Amino acid sequence: MTEKVLARLSDDQNSNSNKIERAIATLDNSTADAVGLPAMAYTSEDFLDRERRTVFTNHWVCVGIGSDLPNFGDLVPVEVAGMPIMLVRDRSSKIRAFHNICSHRGLQLVTQPCQQQKLIRCPYHSWSYALDGELKSTPHFGGYWQDTYEGFDRASKNLQSIKCEQWLDLIFINLVGNAPPLEDYLQPVIERWSDYDLSLLSHGRDLSFEFDANWKLAVENFSESYHLPWVHPQLNNCSRMEDHFGFEVGENHVGQGSKLYRIGAMGDLTLPVFPNLPESRETVAEYISVFPNLMLGIHPDYFLALTVNPLSPTRSVERMSFYFIGDGATSIEYEALRQIPIDLWKITNEEDLETIERLQKGRKSPAFDGGCFSPALETTVHQFQRLVAKAIANK
Ligand code: FES
Repeated sequence: MTEKVLARLSDDQNSNSNKIERAIATLDNSTADAVGLPAMAYTSEDFLDRERRTVFTNHWVCVGIGSDLPNFGDLVPVEVAGMPIMLVRDRSSKIRAFHNICSHRGLQLVTQPCQQQKLIRCPYHSWSYALDGELKSTPHFGGYWQDTYEGFDRASKNLQSIKCEQWLDLIFINLVGNAPPLEDYLQPVIERWSDYDLSLLSHGRDLSFEFDANWKLAVENFSESYHLPWVHPQLNNCSRMEDHFGFEVGENHVGQGSKLYRIGAMGDLTLPVFPNLPESRETVAEYISVFPNLMLGIHPDYFLALTVNPLSPTRSVERMSFYFIGDGATSIEYEALRQIPIDLWKITNEEDLETIERLQKGRKSPAFDGGCFSPALETTVHQFQRLVAKAIANK
């Protein structure tokens, strides 16, 4: 590379780093005075790399659901911002997480879900690991017909384990391993929804969507209802923008809800609802964005968990998991009723994704300066961006 090119690259890096520092500083202002994250936070591989090392490493990140691996020996490959991870249900029914790489020369071990395995075997040189990660066999590693050699430190070659905990059906990992207990992290959510008996949730169905936009745009969009009248006119007919409200839910999460949720009905039949709900909750739906990439929705008759994961700075994948109240709610009798919220979210999400992809396109413009927030209706978006800025400052 010529000196000129190197100088330009260095200028670009300095300018990007200045933009990040500026964003971190201005996001600490009040909502009315804050400037949003710059375009490069949504378009640059460098920024995503920084998020990998901070946002997705230092926090609890939801990576999957227990229903994906119901039995002992089930394995599921997952990714967090492109980092390969595997989930394993061990003999004691506990779900464990490991870096999804062989300790020998780093081959990705699990490429698709597998059921009821006794060992995890690498297809390259056939090293095998127990479900607790212990390295069990290394054929011919010490020479023909010798599995070892003097001085080989077998114990240091076990699978690399990742801190993993579960709340409801949702599986979380913490890559750096020093996050507080998951229950502490989620405590404001657990308290906010203590009226709902979440132990009754029964997994119904999943939907998955890929889209051409940065992952943060999906969280920001989920966190505010200001866009409802224009992006979701049909939804706005039954739950208007002004029927929504915001609420505090701890330092790391943001919440908003609707006062006018109507339970879907077919004739006299409705889905089972959470028992003993206070009257004030009977027509309420609430939504919480759990930092960084989990979005939750609670309704009297169903629960929604939505995760978004970056595939690249400009492409992301979403997964929606629907849960209903009690095992009976997932029976054939309620199939058509279950489809009502699923169809509604499918339509709503398609409308959202069209908008989100246009927000992404807008970030190619040299005129985009980070944007601004409504102090009345977008404090949640501001708070989310502030959390991102704070997280990446801890690189
Ligand atoms: Fe796995 Fe060689 S890379 S056994």
